[in-house]
Amino acid sequence: MPRIFIDGESFDARTEQTVLQVADEHGIFIPRLCWHKGLSIAGNCRICVVQVEGRSWVEISCNMPVSEGLRVLTDTELVRAHRKATMQFLTLNHPVDCGVCDKAGECTLQDYHVAYNGDASISHEPKVVATKFFPLSERITLDNERCILCTRCVRFTREVSKSDALGVQERGDHSVIRPAGGAVRRLDQDAYSDNIVDLCPVGALLSRSFLYKDRVWYLKATPSVCPGCERGCNIDVWHRKPEWHLRALDPAGNRAIARVTPRENAAVNGPWVCNKARDLAALLERPRANAPMKKGREVGLDEALAAARTLIAQARHPVALVSSWGSDEELRAFKATLGERFSCFVKRDHEPADGEVVQDDLLIRADKNPNGFTARKLFGDRPVAFAPETDLVLVWGEGGDFARLPRGVPVIFLNAHLAPENGYADVFFATSVMTERAGHYTNFEGTTSAFAACFARPAGVVDAERIFAALAVKETVAAS
Ligand code: SF4
Ligand code: SF4
Ligand code: FES
Repeated sequence: MPRIFIDGESFDARTEQTVLQVADEHGIFIPRLCWHKGLSIAGNCRICVVQVEGRSWVEISCNMPVSEGLRVLTDTELVRAHRKATMQFLTLNHPVDCGVCDKAGECTLQDYHVAYNGDASISHEPKVVATKFFPLSERITLDNERCILCTRCVRFTREVSKSDALGVQERGDHSVIRPAGGAVRRLDQDAYSDNIVDLCPVGALLSRSFLYKDRVWYLKATPSVCPGCERGCNIDVWHRKPEWHLRALDPAGNRAIARVTPRENAAVNGPWVCNKARDLAALLERPRANAPMKKGREVGLDEALAAARTLIAQARHPVALVSSWGSDEELRAFKATLGERFSCFVKRDHEPADGEVVQDDLLIRADKNPNGFTARKLFGDRPVAFAPETDLVLVWGEGGDFARLPRGVPVIFLNAHLAPENGYADVFFATSVMTERAGHYTNFEGTTSAFAACFARPAGVVDAERIFAALAVKETVAAS
């Protein structure tokens, strides 16, 4: 185990580490633009330079292997001068349109300009003009003037998503990122493409769905879990900070998901997510059910609970189709309150959609439900089957095929979204979605991840857990 010295302090390193990695591990910050821990080393931006004691030149730390007794300095006059010159070069042709750039507020180039340069450009040459909105895919647009050619995006498509979708075209200051000839898949078909928007250290790669919609300083990130498949990738759901809530101007934006980014978890998803997580808004912000009903007629919550309790009391062979989108807490609550009363089967709420990648060897799993693991652990893995004597069915969540329910048998249905089946049920409850409550999902490998609430529940909507408790103990819950 080599011992190295950074700024005079000694650290034990592992042989395979670089100086930048050792520095990171011990909280010593060295700037970086092209280096990313999930990608190979490119060594092209030159911002990460350090000086080896006794040498009169600088070297890049992202590609400097450790060796016994190595002594590096991260903040000498020479290092500072080199970083300043590097920033001058990197911004030589930059359009400095930060005022309208989506990356403003979280742009590494902005931060480094302030930290390591601070001066206006010393160039007298006109800037190179390049494409402003090059459509890389349906989801991503590229601003070539802002690109610093770090090649993170290119390396991601080659090394992680393996689509080989991007490459560098032309040479020198005419170099541009472009779709690569001979790609395995086009960026449009790369199920992980949106990771390059996060990876891009500047505002060159832009998400079309987020383009000019918000400023990042108006948003906060709430930790959550992607429900798109049984991988349960950890994510941040970004939404308006309460202090920046819109009042007259589009208040609906206050309870909308602005964007989704990965939340790194080495045990689940590493630093990546697939594009389905980015589209969480489309999944959760479908039209909502917002009132309990009896046979399609809106009723108060107490009346719906009383009707459901009567059906349960009268039933001799009730069956429950349990949601694999329920949280660990909800599933345990169902088990504790109604689990003994019902014959329970775990239901797949969602199946793969047309055109969706069903499974791959990076993250995407074929089971498109986040919590089949806990559901099956509590309720078994039997295929859904209705005995002839079934006299009540409780359907919790989406994916219950109502055409296949036993005919003439009463149905209690819990669902968060508008659906024709809501009105068909004898008793219907409008339930919350995951961004309106806290909980945990346990993924297919048994790793549990937490999600927190981003928004208040809409009026008329109740958490499933509270409905189960009320149905079991004959108490009522207050409608929100
Ligand atoms: S588009 Fe962004 S990630 Fe790709 S090379 Fe340019 S700066 Fe780097
Ligand atoms: S792999 Fe599954 S859990 Fe992860 S982001 Fe994609 S759909 Fe969501
Ligand atoms: S981070 Fe080391 S050269 Fe770019």
